[in-house]
Amino acid sequence: MSGNGVRRRAVLGSGLGALAAAAAASLGPPAEAAEDQTLRRLAAAKGLIYGTTISARQIARDPAFIGLVERQAGLAVPENDMKWQDINRGAPGDDDYSRADTIAGFAGESGMVLRGHNGLWYFRTPSWFFTLPNRAAKERAVADRITSLVRRYRGIVHSWDVVNEPIEPKDGRPDGLRKAVFLEALGPEYLDLAYRLARETDPKARLVVNEYDVELDTPEHETRRVVLLDLLERMRKAGTPVDAVGIQAHLTAVGGPPFSVERLRRFFADIAALGLTIQITELDVTDEKAPAEIAVRDGLVADTYRRFLDAALDEPAVKMVVTWGLSDRHSWIVRHETNEAKWRKDGLPSRPLPFDADLNPKPAFKAMAEAFANAPTRTPG
Ligand code: XIL
Repeated sequence: MSGNGVRRRAVLGSGLGALAAAAAASLGPPAEAAEDQTLRRLAAAKGLIYGTTISARQIARDPAFIGLVERQAGLAVPENDMKWQDINRGAPGDDDYSRADTIAGFAGESGMVLRGHNGLWYFRTPSWFFTLPNRAAKERAVADRITSLVRRYRGIVHSWDVVNEPIEPKDGRPDGLRKAVFLEALGPEYLDLAYRLARETDPKARLVVNEYDVELDTPEHETRRVVLLDLLERMRKAGTPVDAVGIQAHLTAVGGPPFSVERLRRFFADIAALGLTIQITELDVTDEKAPAEIAVRDGLVADTYRRFLDAALDEPAVKMVVTWGLSDRHSWIVRHETNEAKWRKDGLPSRPLPFDADLNPKPAFKAMAEAFANAPTRTPG
């Protein structure tokens, strides 16, 4: 960054005027060069925390990317390294926290807040759990998972996604809960068990229910919103501790379901009325139906970031924005891991994040920066 400044002064000194200044500006990523214009600082100025996913592997192998993370993000969340199946790849008790520890250590050294993701997720449960002989054994395993994980990072983790993706109205239960492994093993009480143990183990951590497909203006998203609000209401009545709702917000730039500012605002107001805060936890914008031309695609992706964030940040209960990656160099969609519907059919790499694969800021970066700069100030939470 300072190298860029030196170059710029030298060119201007030669007296070439505005043309030279424009050329100098294009030498490096100008938006990234301004210290006070980072997403981290722009968000913090409004009482918001901005963050991104990282992995232990990136910390070990991609210092340039990690440098960008340190400049731009005030929070880190392990994309996978804290998931149960990632910590436990063998038998019960045979846990390996080394990757999660690397991330926690990195966040501490870099002065970043840490999110905990996640305690229980039906999609990443060790295979031995399914073979446990009875309910008591399953209850013990769930309790051990939550207490050992939360205890290890006690006082360090800002917010825990204690249970990830607990609802699925399509499964047909009257309460809309997802008919998956933990519900089948323990009934709906598994939620109460997990959140209570998390609270007892680290009373200061914020406890979050993290969910997807609740952002848009479709009957399906509306049903999911209703079910989620019902769940939060039931948890409150039962005294099950919850502090915040995580809105994943995996969005699509073009050809996706419609978005309504009014609906999103009403939903967020309903959450706030329950006394809960809101965290945007996994924001990214895929471009699977956008034209190939990069300038067009990036513009459409940026517009989607802008529209969503302008609406979301209007609600003062929103305290955090996390993107599911920072650069297109490291994105689950670009890696083609899951969610095939979001991959481009022409085989071109997707461009879902604020920085490109060479770590240069994209129009999406500018859209986010402006959304943060325009956001009303809130009390941090
Ligand atoms: C994804 C990761 O990004 C992938 O690397 C992994 O293969 C699957 O999980 N909702 C969540 C995240 O809560 O944990 C998921 O992360 C993306 C969807």
